[in-house]
Amino acid sequence: MTNTHKKKPQDLRSNRWFGPDDLRSFGHRSRAKQMGYWSEEFVGKPVIGIVNTWNDLNTCHSHFPERIKDIKRGITAAGGFPVELPALSLGEQLMKPSAMMYRNLLAMEVEETLRSYPIDGAVVMGGCDKTTPGVLMGAASMNIPTIYVPAGPMLRGNWRGKTLGSGTDVWKYWDERRIGNVSDETWSGIEDGIARSPGTCMTMGTAATLMSIAEALGMCLPGASCIPAVDSNHNRMCYASGARAVEMVWEDLKPTDILTAEAFDNAIAVDMAIGGSTNAIIHLIALARRVGVPLDLEHFDRIAAGIPLLACIQPSGEYLMEDFYYAGGLPALMAQLQSRLHLNVMTVNGSTLNDNIKDAEVWRPEVIRSLDNPVQEAGGTAVLRGTLAPGGAIIKPTAADPRLLKHSGPALVFESIADLKARIDDDDLDVTADTVLVMKNGGPVGGPGMPEWGMLPIPKKLLEQGVRDLVRISDSRMSGTSYGACILHVSPEAAVGGPLALVQTGDIIEVDVSARRLDLMVDPAELERRRSAWKAPTPRHTHGYASLYRAHVTQADQGCDFDFMNGAPGSTPEPDIY
Ligand code: FES
Ligand code: MG
Repeated sequence: MTNTHKKKPQDLRSNRWFGPDDLRSFGHRSRAKQMGYWSEEFVGKPVIGIVNTWNDLNTCHSHFPERIKDIKRGITAAGGFPVELPALSLGEQLMKPSAMMYRNLLAMEVEETLRSYPIDGAVVMGGCDKTTPGVLMGAASMNIPTIYVPAGPMLRGNWRGKTLGSGTDVWKYWDERRIGNVSDETWSGIEDGIARSPGTCMTMGTAATLMSIAEALGMCLPGASCIPAVDSNHNRMCYASGARAVEMVWEDLKPTDILTAEAFDNAIAVDMAIGGSTNAIIHLIALARRVGVPLDLEHFDRIAAGIPLLACIQPSGEYLMEDFYYAGGLPALMAQLQSRLHLNVMTVNGSTLNDNIKDAEVWRPEVIRSLDNPVQEAGGTAVLRGTLAPGGAIIKPTAADPRLLKHSGPALVFESIADLKARIDDDDLDVTADTVLVMKNGGPVGGPGMPEWGMLPIPKKLLEQGVRDLVRISDSRMSGTSYGACILHVSPEAAVGGPLALVQTGDIIEVDVSARRLDLMVDPAELERRRSAWKAPTPRHTHGYASLYRAHVTQADQGCDFDFMNGAPGSTPEPDIY
């Protein structure tokens, strides 16, 4: 034991279960022995819970059962006792209406599982979109020593020798297919080649963004976030993370020691420099609120505004996460960005960010650019406000047609996703390249769960005319792999009576991204008249989890967490053991 050790075996949380000479502890020890363990294996050792967000339908975490072995190997070698704790797996592709609806459920499951069992520290595994914020939010609220293990991206897609990127290339080829430019054979070839290994989407979608953000916050080992899922370095990272979790218990290095206001500023800066997913803003606000760090849309926009795009990764650039790893990965990118970062913050490996990145080099400068040669000068996410979004809305200007960043046009309104699906490809749809598409009732309450419906499709009629982008407005989110002049997260949402609910076809909407404005150009008296006639849509979900979710979810500008998750970390008492 070194002098950085604050804890002794008798101080361990698990010692409350296993240590005392009483009837209850006899039961706890005898039942551990029921599983074939010796007392020496678990009594007085850090018990490390490995939170495994695996299941057979989470297509991106299919390597987790193998990686568990590596994590356990590391924990045992470092003198800990590994236990696997399966948790709700949020598979972005197959879970409906949206994995987002279940992020808060995963967070609660992680927190309560760690609390109710004899656990001293945790390794939390995540990667596919909402799993990362889910496990981090749960770990933050529980606040015992925790290290995050990222799933890592899948290999680059390949089709006839051509590289394919998750999501981004699908949207592009799908638009061409809708107007007859892609054959059945080509389409099925793309289907075979676009996802060809375990791991997350390998564009800078939500998964890669959130894994990078977890590293920028200091919650995983340096360099861990972009190791391809099938690279042997990923196995070794898992081993090292398990071993480190044991040390973190002795050092009593907790999430609140790492998740400081400075760490969140670093995460926002990195999010901009990587061209991160628009979803990041929601998850960062939710996580910050869990640890009592004040973070709102304006603060996000202030930090974001000065940060250029350095990572040339799809959808904002041309390369993929595998290239990013070979280029030096996140440590190399953060080294380029260091003049904009707080370098003195603590990270899970017990070193400061400065120590972790000071020697990092860029091996492929076309993939990770420098501050004096960025991919784009302006960062990736801008916050808009105005009469249409008094609580805020966001846009990713780097992924939009520049002609639409200052725009005024008539609204074409769809009341719901079903209404949109039914009418968008009508030949007689009254739409031009200046039309502003508006979709209602896809927000946190309206979805429910704020699905990724916000990249509203371009009407077929306009695709045929060669139009590839339009201003599109909704209270939904969009996939991190999406692109276009999509204004998202409009708050308050339509289903709770935000101004979005009052928009009618033909109303003029004005967007001015550089002025950060989004306005509905309708006379206030007319809006009042519409408001008094407005009725909330009848909810389809009145049972079980969806009804709990609808009753307690906060709006996008507050992170879509539950309104009752507002206690400080550690404010829930430790369980009684009698
Ligand atoms: Fe799992 Fe994209 S579907 S990361
Ligand atoms: Mg996604």
